[in-house]
Amino acid sequence: MSKAELHIDGKIIELPVIEGSEGERAINIENLRAETGLITLDPGYANTGSCESSITFINGEEGILHHRGYSIESLADNCSFLEVSYLLVKGHLPNAAELEAFTDSILGHTMLHEDLRLFFRALPKDAHPMAACSAMVSALATFYPDSLDPRNEREVEISIHRLLAKLPTIAAYAYKHSVGQPFMYPDNSLSYVGNFLHLMFANPCEDFEVDPVVEKAIDLLLILHADHEQNCSASTVRLVGSSHANLFAAVSAGINALWGPRHGGANQEVIEMLGAIADEGLTGKQFVDRAKSRDDTSRLMGFGHRVYKNFDPRARIIKKATFDVLERLGVNSRLLEIAVELEELALKDEYFVERNLYPNVDFYSGVIYTAIGTPENMFTPNFAIGRLPGWIAQWLEMHEHRHKIGRPRQIYTGETNRKIQPIAER
Ligand code: SDX
Repeated sequence: MSKAELHIDGKIIELPVIEGSEGERAINIENLRAETGLITLDPGYANTGSCESSITFINGEEGILHHRGYSIESLADNCSFLEVSYLLVKGHLPNAAELEAFTDSILGHTMLHEDLRLFFRALPKDAHPMAACSAMVSALATFYPDSLDPRNEREVEISIHRLLAKLPTIAAYAYKHSVGQPFMYPDNSLSYVGNFLHLMFANPCEDFEVDPVVEKAIDLLLILHADHEQNCSASTVRLVGSSHANLFAAVSAGINALWGPRHGGANQEVIEMLGAIADEGLTGKQFVDRAKSRDDTSRLMGFGHRVYKNFDPRARIIKKATFDVLERLGVNSRLLEIAVELEELALKDEYFVERNLYPNVDFYSGVIYTAIGTPENMFTPNFAIGRLPGWIAQWLEMHEHRHKIGRPRQIYTGETNRKIQPIAER
């Protein structure tokens, strides 16, 4: 094993260098404080690995994304979302019998407890669906107190199936509540995605047919959002799970982290940005020039990434799928035209080029969601449904590796040795 030398306080400390299966290297500092009394400091963790993982590999420089060794392109072309979910959670692609049993089990858990349905009635009509999703996922722990032990394999298995089955139902009910429509019961004769579309768009007064073009597009989008190694929300799920909180609590925290506009909330921000450009009659160049200002509120949403310093491979796939779906649905999209213009301008603009800012997964996803009828406030819940198997896989791996509780250190920079003045003298 190779080593790194740290020269500090007249001593030379040797630190082991580990290498991953794709050639990434890291200095292992597990014993640094014990040997030197020092810690490292890395706000935002841009240079810090939190774990060794065999779930997802990203090469940000080359725009590569693999899940359990399979490229995202090959998974998108050859698998369904439930196959990819099985792959992430179990570590291998299912055979036909395994996939059938997994699908049957999940479709058998899609209903919510009748009392849980009542929770939605207490929410304001304009409650954002992400708030509803995190609240209801957390509430699942109150309905299933018999399956919360993170170290009990059987309890974990049933919780995983309940979560995968019920999050689409919860998300759809959050939407139905926001539009004042009755909740539909799941129709388990449909596919996983078909059932979600039924829950979202069917109503008791007319027949509802699942559009196969829309069904396939949603299934692809869910695959493309399934996992992304130690992103903000996955790291949140791991950190909350490391206290041995139950899976529902950890996933509820992950949903809240994903909601942020810098993370999964960006897909809704992109559509609002494209819509504002269209409404204000701005040219792409005018907006790109505004996006280069340091004011965070006018960023080119859907661009940039902590890891990808090249094209996000998911953005390439979604862009192609967007054109395909719009053509098959016979839909023209002004938003898509604006998005393509912004991409072309940004990729030639020195500000974006020198900062390695490329379209990320959120840049085109909102355009395709809009084209297939997904309401804007449901973009990020769709992201959460896609990311759920990834969160579960990360939470499982954290427990399999028997990680210690996550507890970062800090460097204190505040006041020292202050004496308390009597209140009359303050
Ligand atoms: C997701 O981690 C993951 O894997 C996330 C994700 C997943 O699948 O889980 O891929 C999903 O969250 C994708 C990202 C969605 N967010 C957005 O699209 C929001 C817009 N982008 C950013 O705010 C930003 O790019 C981040 C948050 C994504 C990344 O931020 P970093 O790595 O901390 O980079 P930074 O904010 O320090 O930016 C570096 C420079 C800065 O300029 P300078 O200080 O050098 O002058 O680039 C600029 C930033 O101002 N910059 C942008 C920009 N993104 C970065 N300028 C204009 N528009 C942007 N979009």
